[in-house]
Amino acid sequence: MTEALAEVAQWLQDARSVLVLTGAGISAESGIPTFRGKDGWWKNHDPMELASPEGFARNPALVWEWYAYRYHLVEKAQPNPGHHAIAHLEERTPAFLLLTQNVDGLHRRAGSKNVHEIHGSIQRMRCTRTGKIYHPTDVPIEPPFPLKTPDGDLLRPDVVWFGETIRMDAAEAVEDFLATHHPDVCLLIGTSALFAYIQSWSLRAKYAGARLVEINAERSTLSGMADAFIQQQAGTALPQLVEALT
Ligand code: OAD
Repeated sequence: MTEALAEVAQWLQDARSVLVLTGAGISAESGIPTFRGKDGWWKNHDPMELASPEGFARNPALVWEWYAYRYHLVEKAQPNPGHHAIAHLEERTPAFLLLTQNVDGLHRRAGSKNVHEIHGSIQRMRCTRTGKIYHPTDVPIEPPFPLKTPDGDLLRPDVVWFGETIRMDAAEAVEDFLATHHPDVCLLIGTSALFAYIQSWSLRAKYAGARLVEINAERSTLSGMADAFIQQQAGTALPQLVEALT
C-alpha cells in the first residue's frame, strides 16, 4: 500500500462521518462505459447529445435504443470490488451517505443502503404525459422503440438529462447530511466533477473540516483541491483502503 493510501486509511479509521460522491468511473470496471471516456461513444453518437431533452425530441427511437443497450449492459454487469468496498465502509461508519451520479443501480446491488441517485435510475421509466412511473416488469425494455405505455403514451427513461433539474430528494439528503453530520472525510470517486453541485458539495465538506480524498484514474477539476489524490483505479484502491481498516 502506498503512503498516501495508508494516510487515507487512517483518516477513514478515525472518521465518524463519511460522505461519498461517485461517478461513472466506479462502474467502468464493471464494463459500463463512462460518459466522457473514448469508449462512451455509441454507434458514432455522442452520449452528451443522446442524454438530452433535445436529442429525445429529435429522435426518441434512437435515444431509446441507446438506453436499452445500456439497460441490458447494466443487467448483465456485476458490482465490482470498488462498489463492494464502499458498501463495507458504510457498515463500519457511524454516519454515512453515498451520492451517485450513476443511474446503473450497482451500488445498491453491492449492498450500499444510504445511497441517493442524483441523476435517477435506468431501471425506471416515466410517462411523458402523466409522469407515472413504470418498471421493466410493466413494460419490457425491448424493441420496437420508442417505448410506450399500455395507453400509447410516450415513455422516457426516468433519468436526468443535460439541462434538466437534478433529483431534489437526493440533493436535500446531501444538504441535510452536511448540516447534521459534518463529514470528517469526503471521498470523491471516479467522476470528472464537472457539475457545479458535485464541486460545491466537495468543497463545502472540505471547508467545513472534512479531508477531501479523490480516487480517479486521471486528474479531474478538483484534484488540485484534494487533501489526497489517489491516481488509481477505484476497484484497486478502494478494497486496499477498506482492508486496512480494523
Ligand atoms: P465522466 O465520464 O465524465 O467521468 C468519469 C471519470 O471516471 C473520469 O474522471 C475518469 O478519469 C474516471 N475513471 C474512469 N475509469 C476509472 C476507474 N476504473 N477508477 C476510477 N476512476 C475512473 O462521468 P461522470 O463524472 O460520472 O450525467 O459524469 C457525470 C455525469 O455526466 C453523468 O452522470 C452523466 C454525464 O453526462 C447526465 O447524464 C446528466
